[in-house]
Amino acid sequence: EQIEKGGYEHFMLKEIFEQPKSVHDTMRGRLLVDEGVIKMAGIWDHVERFKNANRIIIIACGTSWHAGLIGEYLIEEYARIPVEVEYASEFRYRNPIITDKDVVIAISQSGETADTMAALKLAKEKGAFIYGICNVVDSSIARITDAGSYTHAGPEIGVASTKAFTAQLTILTLIAFKLGKHNGNLGNAEFMSLIAELDALPKKIEEVLNTTHELTQNIAKDFVKATNFLYLGRGYNYPAALEGALKLKEISYIHAEGYPAAEMKHGPIALIDENMPIVIIAPKKGHYDKIVSNVQEIKARKGKIIAVVNKGDRQVSEMADYVIEIPETSECFSPIVASVPLQLLAYYIAVYRGANVDQPRNLAKSVTVE
Ligand code: G6P
Repeated sequence: EQIEKGGYEHFMLKEIFEQPKSVHDTMRGRLLVDEGVIKMAGIWDHVERFKNANRIIIIACGTSWHAGLIGEYLIEEYARIPVEVEYASEFRYRNPIITDKDVVIAISQSGETADTMAALKLAKEKGAFIYGICNVVDSSIARITDAGSYTHAGPEIGVASTKAFTAQLTILTLIAFKLGKHNGNLGNAEFMSLIAELDALPKKIEEVLNTTHELTQNIAKDFVKATNFLYLGRGYNYPAALEGALKLKEISYIHAEGYPAAEMKHGPIALIDENMPIVIIAPKKGHYDKIVSNVQEIKARKGKIIAVVNKGDRQVSEMADYVIEIPETSECFSPIVASVPLQLLAYYIAVYRGANVDQPRNLAKSVTVE
């Protein structure tokens, strides 16, 4: 096992550090920047099905569901096809309206999650076209779908999903851009500039790992005794906030809640005092001014602010107690880059609390029973 961990203390840390490679592997053979092409047979062979879909319904559980939420933002923004995202466990039991004009995308690292599988079977019975985004090759979900794309992230051992999540986001980005280009919603110049940026993402992830590894350890030391955490973000980074909170609660057992930053005033603001740590994801692109006013509201209530901002940021950084800098990207890529320091922060808080990071209590890597 020590050999498999490749010198890292835990699989989770190893997997966090593998992300430049796993994101790259997921794009390999698909993203051909010089030719200006995204090659995805699973999508291309059924492209009219997607183009003419009434809507796309994304079903998943846990971290994969968070990837699905970001998928909704991506596909609606770039391909202009309506998307809904549902928990597989809710979808399967609520008598949903599904027709043969719908496309259902299941996202699952393991490809074995019982609720996701059952939801897919239901969609298939109703005639929907079903598409899988799985990490495990030849898994049950991969086998029952009509088509799909594998996230080539490599085996993920840590129960808390990290590299599978960023690989899922990479696939969803490729799908959104490919469909957008085909639909004519994404013009050539924008497409070319987005794919060049996507191609450079592994380098940015590498940079973030290098610049935030020690920093997140230091921040983590100050929060070992915390009992609650709030994670806030807007737009693409709202689901990234949900995922940041999930990572922390899964492995450190600290209660954490993710929220869209603007919803704070409808509840969570009541919780804010000098004992409440608040992680706020505030990159330059994407509602930055709005986030600044959210941060002011937190500051006025003396919350402890851990801000994830772009390099050179002033306004949010000046108000924050802790600043984590990430490189600037187009908004759609920011959840990938912002997730990395949040994974590290959760990891180190859990390690300093003496928790079993790779095998958290009560959780399973793959939930094959209901
Ligand atoms: C479990 C795992 C999570 C995962 C979820 C969905 O709860 O602990 O990490 O996100 O199942 O799993 P899947 O394999 O379908 O992505």
